Amino acid sequence: MRTVLGIESSCDETAAALVTDGRVILAQRIASQDEVHRPYGGVVPEIAARAHAERLAPLIEATLADANMRLEDVDAIAATAGPGLIGGVMVGLVTAKALAMAADKPLIAINHLEGHALSPRLADPGLEYPYLLLLVSGGHCQILGVEGVGRFRRLATTIDDALGEAFDKTAKLLGLGYPGGPAVERLAARGDARKVPLPRPLVGSDEPHFSFAGLKSAVMRAKQAMDKGAGYTEADIAASFQQAAIDCLVDRTRRALKNVGEMNALVVAGGVAANQAIRSALETLAAEHRLAFVAPPLALCTDNAAMIAWAGVERLALGQSDPLDIAARPRWPLDPDAEAVRGAGVKA
Ligand code: KG4
Ligand code: ZN
Repeated sequence: MRTVLGIESSCDETAAALVTDGRVILAQRIASQDEVHRPYGGVVPEIAARAHAERLAPLIEATLADANMRLEDVDAIAATAGPGLIGGVMVGLVTAKALAMAADKPLIAINHLEGHALSPRLADPGLEYPYLLLLVSGGHCQILGVEGVGRFRRLATTIDDALGEAFDKTAKLLGLGYPGGPAVERLAARGDARKVPLPRPLVGSDEPHFSFAGLKSAVMRAKQAMDKGAGYTEADIAASFQQAAIDCLVDRTRRALKNVGEMNALVVAGGVAANQAIRSALETLAAEHRLAFVAPPLALCTDNAAMIAWAGVERLALGQSDPLDIAARPRWPLDPDAEAVRGAGVKA
């Protein structure tokens, strides 16, 4: 049995985990920075980096203690090396380098998006490559053919905002605070999705991509109209927004399924994959195509270190590791050959 220590620090969660090649999470800890960033209504990169620097080492110590292990007992150290907020990524990667050097263990630099992309295989031993992945997070909205470790074919991306960003902006507009996604989902459950007419950008379009900027502006106009007495509530806006987002995801994923070769499953991952309404809409779509549907448990959807450790397990099994001078990367596409897309904002 081999065990990998995973470290995640690319955004606002400081996390460490110990995961075995038998798919057992021996221990994992996450220190959320929600409270730290809440007064600002979003993540402040400099403050995030400082918080990671304060919290990471004791968190790793506690994670090892939880599993009754010492650093010497692990087989490799995997850390997110990008993409993400560079200050935080550097804290995690440099810590991993120091530990790897001190314990004489291999260092494995993980692409955070690969962590999300492979996380469904940690939870589901039956999930084999290739699978079609909808990767929806705070910084990304992509459809990828996942053919193996480090082998991704990007079929679609967003030409403007990521979906998580649209959820967060909607939450802010509705006064729900930060982080927004789960709050919008809770409010949407009490609203009527037919009350507020909102656009479904690019639905039915010949091009494969996503767009959410127009939806976001329409939510803003709907909120202004509500304030002037349009007959609907915040909950109706949240529900209508969530339904519009779902319609976009389903339409674009259906298009991708039509054009992609044989796939073993339809998989969703990333923070937004924690949304139950989105999960069930995709499950229905998969059933229509007689495809297995896989979504990781909620705790593996939002940022965590178990997914980073698992990507490390997969890379270690292929004999891969990285040199100690490997650089942290603010940008790091999964499919470097994918064509640049008009207006595509590549964010963490
Ligand atoms: O993957 P993640 O934790 O961090 C990034 O790598 O971006 O994703 C965070 C994003 C945020 O935008 C958050 O609002 C969204 O995932 N999110 C949700 C839900 N839970 C988290 N969006 C919709 N519904 C949710 N339940
Ligand atoms: Zn993430």
